[in-house]
Order: sequence, then C-alpha cells, then structure tokens
Amino acid sequence: MAIRFEDIKEHIGSRVSWDDRADLFTPEAARAIREKVEERTVLVFPRLGLTDEEQLRITQLLGPKVRLTNKTNVQANDEDVYQVTLDERINPQPEYVLGTFFWHMDGITVDMPPPFATLLSCRIAPAIGGETEFASTYAAYEGLPDEEKAALEGLKAVHSVRASLSPIADAIPEKHRERVLGIGLIKEHPIVWTHGSGRKSMVIGTTADHVVGMDVPAGRALLIRLAEWAAQPAFSLRHKWSEGDFVIWDNTGAMHRAIPYDKSTGRMMHRTSIAGTETVAA
Ligand code: OGA
Ligand code: MN
Repeated sequence: MAIRFEDIKEHIGSRVSWDDRADLFTPEAARAIREKVEERTVLVFPRLGLTDEEQLRITQLLGPKVRLTNKTNVQANDEDVYQVTLDERINPQPEYVLGTFFWHMDGITVDMPPPFATLLSCRIAPAIGGETEFASTYAAYEGLPDEEKAALEGLKAVHSVRASLSPIADAIPEKHRERVLGIGLIKEHPIVWTHGSGRKSMVIGTTADHVVGMDVPAGRALLIRLAEWAAQPAFSLRHKWSEGDFVIWDNTGAMHRAIPYDKSTGRMMHRTSIAGTETVAA
C-alpha cells in the first residue's frame, strides 16, 4: 500500500500522497487514514477529485456514515452527500451555512455522539475567501498552563444552535428566525473531553453559550478565551481550496470555520460525516 503522510505543521495537519488512487479505497487504507486523522487532526488530499460515489465509499470504509442535516432539495436521500453552498436554489436555508463562518464543531446539539469526522470535497473553489480553518483542541488543551487545566476540571457548558447562530441572528429573515434558532437540542457537555484513549480535547466553539454554575458573563468570557487560545497559529491550520481537494478532520478534537465568501463565487463543497463512537465524557 503506497500512501504517504507528510506533516503540515508541528501540532496539526498532514498532507496525503499516493501512487495509485485505488490504494485509498481499501480497508487497510481506511485503517491507516483513520489512525492518522486521530493523530494529526486534519488530513489534506490535494486534488483527489472524488465523485460522490467515491466519497460515500471512503466514508463508509472509515466508519459508519451518519447523516447530519436534512438535505434540503427534493431528492433527500440518506445515502447522499450534503451540499455546502450559499446558492439558495440548492440550499434554501443559507443561514445554516452562514453559521459555518464562526468556530464550531459539527453535531454538538443533536441526540447522538458527536460525529468522529467530517469529510469535505471541494467542487467549486472560490477565487476570493472560502478557505477553511481548523484548530486542534487536543493541542490547545495540552498547551494550557497546569493551573488553567485544573480550573476547567468538572466544568460543563450549555450548547445550542441559538448560541451558534447568535452572530447572524439579525440577518435571518424575521418570519422564520425563531424556527431556525430553535433547531436542535440544548445540550450540556463537559468542556474537557476525556476520550477512551485517555487523551483530552475541549468541546468549545460558538455552540457553547454559557458555563453551568458560573455567572453568564464570566462563563462566556472563559469560553471565548478558550476558543481564542485554540485558534492561535501554533494549534491551527488554514486550508486554501483547489478544485478536487478532499479534507478529513477529527471533529472530536477540533473546531473549524469557513473564511467568509460570497455566493457569487459559486463555492461548492460536498460533505459527509462519520459517526462518533464516544459521547462527551469528563
Ligand atoms: C460544515 C462546515 C466549512 C466550510 O459544512 O459543517 O463547517 O469551509 N463547512 O465549508
Ligand atoms: Mn461545520
């Protein structure tokens, strides 16, 4: 099997190369890729140019596929990819995509373990904007001073779609604002996630509204400081998309966001997700 991984930055990211594309579609490759995603948080497959059928095949090989959101056009199909686009002919709910402009984790406010990984294929790369940034919350937690780690012990945050869309709430047409903000569940998660492996990451980002048992302003300020800490260059990575690029990231140990882009760029990403195996545990 000829798949190679090359570090992009010290704490985050590997670039993948291969001799034969077919080498990526085997159970052995899936094991190696999954292990690497856990180790390096983000894997970039430059210009792989997956078809939907191939993306679904890789997704299934890596772990059970999970469907995160309803596909909004007519041929809603469980086996489909989700099209991340601001084009309202394809996605009549652009506010969900506008919410991706802010640091978040996927699937934090739904009734299942957070997805292990998100997979994005770039179909149309924007000329301006639209890069995706990733911040490792494994590396960020590890890098905290000991007294700050100790202060986080036992703390839980309350997560909601309402909180994650608060930066864009006033841009949502009033007639369906309440319905959109009310999507999803209100969920409490420990801020520090101790995984089965023993490693620790943080569950933070815009879904995190406040800290249980703390004054709202102090808790919110803490959550924002943690997100800023995680986003510092040492722990984060920005990917500028070329058409055909494919990226997989560990959604249980990273926040991500899109750099704002205009719908006139035509930016189009195809997304799938892999089911999580662990609920967030302290
Ligand atoms: C998403 C997401 C980021 C991007 O689809 O969940 O956050 O760059 N996408 O499109
Ligand atoms: Mn996302």
